[in-house]
Amino acid sequence: MATINKNYNKVPPAYGFMEIGRRIKAFVKINPGTEVMRLGIGNTTQPLTATIVRGLLKGVKKLADAKSYTGYGDEQGDSRLRQALAGFYEKRGINISEQEIFISDGAKPDSANISSIFGMDSIVAVTDPVYPVYADSNIIAGKKVVYMNCRQENGFVPGIPKGKVDLIFLCSPNNPTGAVMTKKQLKDFVDYANKKKAVIIFDAAYAEYISDKNLPKSIYEIPGAKSCAIEINSFSKWAGFTGVRLGWTVVPMDLAVEGVEKGKVNSLWNRRQTTMFNGASNIVQEGGLAVLSEKGQKECKELVDYYMNNARIIKSGLTKMGLEVYGGENAPYIWLKVPGNMDSWDFFDSLLKEARVAGTPGSIFGPKGEGYLRLSAFGNKEDIKRAVESIQKNLKFET
Ligand SMILES: Cc1ncc(COP(=O)(O)O)c(C=O)c1O
Repeated sequence: MATINKNYNKVPPAYGFMEIGRRIKAFVKINPGTEVMRLGIGNTTQPLTATIVRGLLKGVKKLADAKSYTGYGDEQGDSRLRQALAGFYEKRGINISEQEIFISDGAKPDSANISSIFGMDSIVAVTDPVYPVYADSNIIAGKKVVYMNCRQENGFVPGIPKGKVDLIFLCSPNNPTGAVMTKKQLKDFVDYANKKKAVIIFDAAYAEYISDKNLPKSIYEIPGAKSCAIEINSFSKWAGFTGVRLGWTVVPMDLAVEGVEKGKVNSLWNRRQTTMFNGASNIVQEGGLAVLSEKGQKECKELVDYYMNNARIIKSGLTKMGLEVYGGENAPYIWLKVPGNMDSWDFFDSLLKEARVAGTPGSIFGPKGEGYLRLSAFGNKEDIKRAVESIQKNLKFET
């Protein structure tokens, strides 16, 4: 007799964002013809750059010719892309080998799948608020999840866990708060993990949004990280690959886990990927190589600068009108404190009704997100300007 995985009953039924869509639809139904400006969703809007398009086309052309056609590739990824990523790290003074890099179809699947190689009895620490995937995937898998609170008082960066934990999910720059961990804050976690033999899963999907040279873009900038940290990253947010799909995960050979030899965790992830994943698209990997070319990097930096200019427009526009705003520097998310006594959903409704702007209620990301609203810088500049102007003109609020 088949039964269902009852752990699905322990996670919110519809990955909160659906409720946003439902409320917008209901609002438009009673206000026909109204345009809702969406500032909530972390989806990219700007087209792929010329160099990336050429890379993707090169991938297509290769498949159109019997001499260069390829079918399945290595599940771990095209060796040229793995080497190019090793070079990407090397430029930052980080020594990562090709064998430690696994190409994937994105950071979301990797961050949801990675804990499957660790024991079922692992206690998993995630932040609150959190990118929901880390919490939900572990709850669905039946693992115990504990929360590290991120509050205004700690700059939305958690302190090291108080009790015993085995896996720690960190995301910097952070979705949803836009907070970025300093080297010192990250070092505290690395030291903790090495001491307690815990493993950190570090999601660096927004690393390219960091322009402050003192802030770490990779956990491997922190001494000792290779023995305790796995890093997950993506081409989505800085190269516009949200729909194209390409990411990677670094599992260092030095990663130390109690009772197994060094290299074992790397070989387990290799086993997992070769068993359950059939490799990223060969066309898309050609696009990834183009991203990592000198020209590609320059163009992607312009893309990031474009979105960060949006972040500045939102942050300064809202600050000027007396709202309390966090993030938006070295990160594409703005974490807005809900004014007055409203909760996140009340404020979402006010913003929608009064300014016709949709954000993302902070409470979707966990109880400590209550009282906040996430705004995203991933829109068109003109749309962002109009949305900010509309908020300034139409939103009524008490401080
Ligand atoms: C923290 C974080 N990691 C990963 C992802 C998804 O990355 P990908 O598109 O590579 O699956 C997102 C998307 O919003 C994210 O916010």
